[in-house]
Amino acid sequence: MSVIYLNPSEAAEEAVKNDLKIPESDQVNRTKTLNNYGYMRTGRGVFEISTRQFLEIAAKPGSKVLEIGAAYGEVVLEALRKGAMDYTAVDLEEDHLKILARRVREELPEKLTCVKLIFGGVPNPDFDKYIEKGSFDAILIENVLHFLDKDQILETLSQIHSWLKPGGKIFSINISFYLGWIKPEIRQSLKEQVAIFQKDPSKIDQIPGFFHNRYELMNLDKYQERIDDIKKKYAGQLFVFHTDVIRYFFEKAEFVIEECCFRQINVEPFKLDGKESVMIIAKK
Ligand SMILES: C[S@@+](CC[C@H](N)C(=O)[O-])C[C@H]1O[C@@H](n2cnc3c(N)ncnc32)[C@H](O)[C@@H]1O
Repeated sequence: MSVIYLNPSEAAEEAVKNDLKIPESDQVNRTKTLNNYGYMRTGRGVFEISTRQFLEIAAKPGSKVLEIGAAYGEVVLEALRKGAMDYTAVDLEEDHLKILARRVREELPEKLTCVKLIFGGVPNPDFDKYIEKGSFDAILIENVLHFLDKDQILETLSQIHSWLKPGGKIFSINISFYLGWIKPEIRQSLKEQVAIFQKDPSKIDQIPGFFHNRYELMNLDKYQERIDDIKKKYAGQLFVFHTDVIRYFFEKAEFVIEECCFRQINVEPFKLDGKESVMIIAKK
């Protein structure tokens, strides 16, 4: 897949022409993505500690920031409202970026020139055509790494490391295996695998948490009548993390970890025991 730079004014124009807009939300504080890559969290109240720290950096005079997996631009808009002047948004879905541009043009038209849009999926060496090495103060990548496999995660983190200024920070949050919809026996098996991995982290091939298809993690007993539909809907690889696993990836990419902890997702069907996601903040 190629990486393409989008002109924000043209992207906003195309969104209007093709009637692209943020979909009606069917859940509180969450709006479904157009490409079946989960939900974008909506509403300022849902910003995590890590997101709020990223926003503080974004709003500082002279700051240059990047967000990967920006979806419809909820964090972009908040950063611009707070004063951000140089914000690059990346997403795998071109229409998300067009809607993002339309939202900025409708709410903060004078700020559209502060936004750069890059359509493409990490990792990809072609990003280096548009992203200068050592140029960002902060990079936000929320709920994206869990769609990648271990090699893609390592490659993405290494690219992000190269794009940050020395001392620049990465802020990330991703799902853990303490999610309500994961089969208890899978969670138990992952806990045991993590315990083994903690004793000998040199065996990266045995790093636990990766599944080729999301449905492998779900209890499908009650869906037997429409199993083929369910499998289609929940196909696609997924990595479910433990703090020690994500820490390992970031250290491998030469980041210095500042904070790494479990965080709560307090809504169904994710809700379980307060450890549903893993937040990490690290420094180059
Ligand atoms: C679950 S949504 C998260 C949106 C937002 N970051 C949040 O946490 O609310 C994932 C978003 O990342 C995008 N995405 C998924 N994989 C990606 C990749 N490899 N590179 C760039 N964007 C990606 C999807 O298109 C989608 O907009």
